[in-house]
Amino acid sequence: MQRLNIDLGERSYEILIGPGIRRRAGEFLKAVFKPSRIVIITHPSINELYGAEVAENFAAQGWTTDIIEIPEGESSKSLTQAEKLYDHLLELNCDRKSVLVALGGGVIGDLVGFIAATYQRGIPFVQMPTTLLSQVDSSVGGKTAVNHPKGKNMIGAFYQPLLVVADLETLATLPVREYRAGLAEIVKYGVISDAKFFEFLETRHKDILNLDHDCLSHIIETSCAIKAEVVEKDERESHYRMILNFGHTLGHVVESLTGYTRYIHGEAVAIGMVRAAELSVTMKRCSAEIPTRLKNLLLKLGLPVEMPDLDTSAVIESLYHDKKTMNHKIKFILVKEIGSIEIVDQVSEGEILAIL
Ligand code: NAD
Ligand code: GLY
Repeated sequence: MQRLNIDLGERSYEILIGPGIRRRAGEFLKAVFKPSRIVIITHPSINELYGAEVAENFAAQGWTTDIIEIPEGESSKSLTQAEKLYDHLLELNCDRKSVLVALGGGVIGDLVGFIAATYQRGIPFVQMPTTLLSQVDSSVGGKTAVNHPKGKNMIGAFYQPLLVVADLETLATLPVREYRAGLAEIVKYGVISDAKFFEFLETRHKDILNLDHDCLSHIIETSCAIKAEVVEKDERESHYRMILNFGHTLGHVVESLTGYTRYIHGEAVAIGMVRAAELSVTMKRCSAEIPTRLKNLLLKLGLPVEMPDLDTSAVIESLYHDKKTMNHKIKFILVKEIGSIEIVDQVSEGEILAIL
C-alpha cells in the first residue's frame, strides 16, 4: 500500500492507495478519528459489489454502521437529493461525530462531501473512491458540490476529507468507458506538470489499458502526488489551482452543450485538452508538435479527440459562464511544453473561434 500525505495544516490527511484496502478502512479510520457512528453512502450497484464488506469492516471496530443508497448519475448531485440525505441523517440521529463514508465515484464523492460540509455545520467524512477518475482527481483536494439547473457544481464548498482510501481492486469492475475517461485526467497531470510521466504514459499505454497492476499503482500515485502538491499551494483556487482545469474550459462546454448525455466527463476533457493545446499554438505559446503528441496519446488510450459540431455562438456564451471567467475575461490554461503550462486571460473571442 502507498501512503501520500496532503499537507494542509490542521486539515492534512492521508491518501491510501493499494489492492484490497477497502477491507481495512475501519482500521485506518480508527487511527485518525473516533466516530460515534458510520453512515456509508453509495449507489445500489456499488453497494451490491462492495457495500457488505466495507460495512463489516467498520462494524468490526464496534461502530454502528448504516448504508444509504442513492440513485446513480449526475442528477443525484442536486439540492433535492441533498435534502433527502439530511432527512435520513436526522432520522438516524447522526451527530457531529458521525462519519460519512463516500463509497463510489465522483458523483457520490462530491455529493457526500457537500453533505458533510453542511450537515450540522460540518461533520467528518471519508472518501472511498471506486472509479479511476475519482481515485486520481475528485476524491483528493476537497472540492465538494451539487449542481444547479443553471450550472454544474454551482453550489458547494471546499471541505477536506479525514482520509482517502483508494482500493485498486475496485477498478476491475469498472466499465471500460469509465476507466478510459479516468485516463484523460491522468494525461492531464503529465501535461501540466511532468514530462517524464507523460512519456511513461506514451510508452506503457498498452499495459495501462490492460490494467497492469504495477502500472496502475504508479499512475494513480503519481497523479495524486501532483494533485496534492497543487492543492497544498492553493487550496481554495485563488489562482494556481486553476492549472488542474487544463482541458476543462472547453470540456465543460462540450458536456453542457451536448446535454451531458453524449460524453462522460473525462471524454469531454480529452477533447478540451486537444483544443486548448491547439489554442496554445495559435497564441504562439507552443509548437504544433504538442497538440499532435497529445492527440496521439489520447487516441491510443481510446479517448475521443474531435470537437463535436456545436453552435459557435453558444460555445462562446457558455464560456462566459465558466467559474474561472472573471470581469468578463475568459481564462484558458495553455501549454508551453509538455510538463509546463500558463494561465491566460487575454484570449479573444476570435482566437477561440479559430480553434472550434
Ligand atoms: P460516477 O461517479 O458517475 O461513476 C460512473 C459510473 O461508474 C456510475 O454509474 C457508478 O455507479 C459506476 N461505478 C463506480 N465505481 C464502480 C466500480 N468500481 N465498479 C463498477 N461500477 C462502478 O462518475 P465519475 O467519473 O467517477 O465522477 C464524475 C463526477 O465527478 C462529476 O460529477 C464531476 O463533476 C465530478 N468531479 C469532481 C471533481 C472534484 O475535484 N471534486 C473532479 C473531477 C470530477
Ligand atoms: N478537479 C479540479 C480541482 O480539484 O481543482
